[in-house]
Amino acid sequence: MLRYFTAGESHGETLVAFLSGMPARLEIDQAFVDRELWRRQQGFGRGGRMKIERDSAHIVSGVRHGKTIGSPIAILIANKDWKNWQEILPVEAGDPEKHKRVASPRPGHADLAGALKYNFPEARYVLERASARESTSRVALGAIAKLFLRRLGIEVLSHVIAVGKAALANAEVPWEKLQELHAKSEVLLNCADAQAEERMKAEVDQALRTGDSVGGVFEVVAHGVPPGLGTYAQWDERLDGMLAQAVMSLQAVKAVEIGTGVGSALSFGSTVHDEIGYGAGQANGAFTGFTRASNHAGGVEGGVSNGEDILVRGYLKPISTLRRPLGSVDFATREPVKAAYERSDVCVVPAAGVAGEAMVALTLARCALEKFGGDSLEETLRNYEGYRQQLKRF
Ligand SMILES: Cc1cc2nc3c(=O)[nH]c(=O)nc-3n(C[C@H](O)[C@H](O)[C@H](O)COP(=O)(O)O)c2cc1C
Repeated sequence: MLRYFTAGESHGETLVAFLSGMPARLEIDQAFVDRELWRRQQGFGRGGRMKIERDSAHIVSGVRHGKTIGSPIAILIANKDWKNWQEILPVEAGDPEKHKRVASPRPGHADLAGALKYNFPEARYVLERASARESTSRVALGAIAKLFLRRLGIEVLSHVIAVGKAALANAEVPWEKLQELHAKSEVLLNCADAQAEERMKAEVDQALRTGDSVGGVFEVVAHGVPPGLGTYAQWDERLDGMLAQAVMSLQAVKAVEIGTGVGSALSFGSTVHDEIGYGAGQANGAFTGFTRASNHAGGVEGGVSNGEDILVRGYLKPISTLRRPLGSVDFATREPVKAAYERSDVCVVPAAGVAGEAMVALTLARCALEKFGGDSLEETLRNYEGYRQQLKRF
């Protein structure tokens, strides 16, 4: 079973990512892993932190001579800012005078709930772990999951479909267009439509001008996924449920939609469900001869992948840290004050999309390994090929 954990604080020495259960003999392209980390750092509306960090994955176990060896994979991602924080956040007792308190909890952050839960007098330690810096570790693990999925012919990409009130008029973007977006060396808002992207940029500009922040919606698309991942047999084995939890677990994501789920709830069934045909599917590279007139279901029916592209949308609330802070209360005096301000992004929708890709890739990799098994990549691929033949003969 594919399992993963992360550790590390936002201003600590290093982030740590741990992945267990990946078959042996999978080639690891370190440049690809680092490019994924770079993608997470991009986007219009990012704060100063992104200028300090240039993330790189330092793999310390589980990979030898360029390939996985079946042992747990551990990755370190150094925090370049650590040099400025060593005395503020030492592992040992250190000098309490140098401690940097988060004196008033910031609405929309874990600050107050975390301080109450862990019995901290202020929110420094809460901020350190609740921060989305943690998503960097997930992107590194997701990159390895993507390299594995690639060997099965599965690719996972994302694009932005809304920032604030600016939305893409037609969110049905062809796969080739997403590949073009992905190849770009400059990421603005990772939107497939230039005009919509300009409107999105204007939303971010307004937030920047007014000391505000803005949220939005990203869509993750998984292409080449075979029918049969996940199952309706047990509630917690449904693919849609697993994808929802994976994407919802990302910082600031407040709703997850599979396909056009939200719009579907407001429509008649005749306009929602994807009609089934039979014919040229296989000739066009599909897994079976069955075809669909549309993909409103987002590639999952009854908790099982159906062979269409998997579409998962993450809805982000606006960033909680505002340059024009909201009202709060001082932890020590309980007097009303403005919430603490710490250097912050204003819009992170494209970056969250990259983290969303990682979570979708990890979920699909786990489901694929559950279905096809294999201790070596060759064994997994052989089993997968057997299943593909079965689908062809269906
Ligand atoms: C990629 C990414 C970067 C983020 N950067 C910031 C940031 O700079 N400032 C901030 O206040 N929130 C940022 N957030 C959101 C917060 O981490 C998140 O809202 C906060 O931890 C509270 O968690 P919750 O929104 O899940 O309840 C970011 C989220 C993501 C996905």
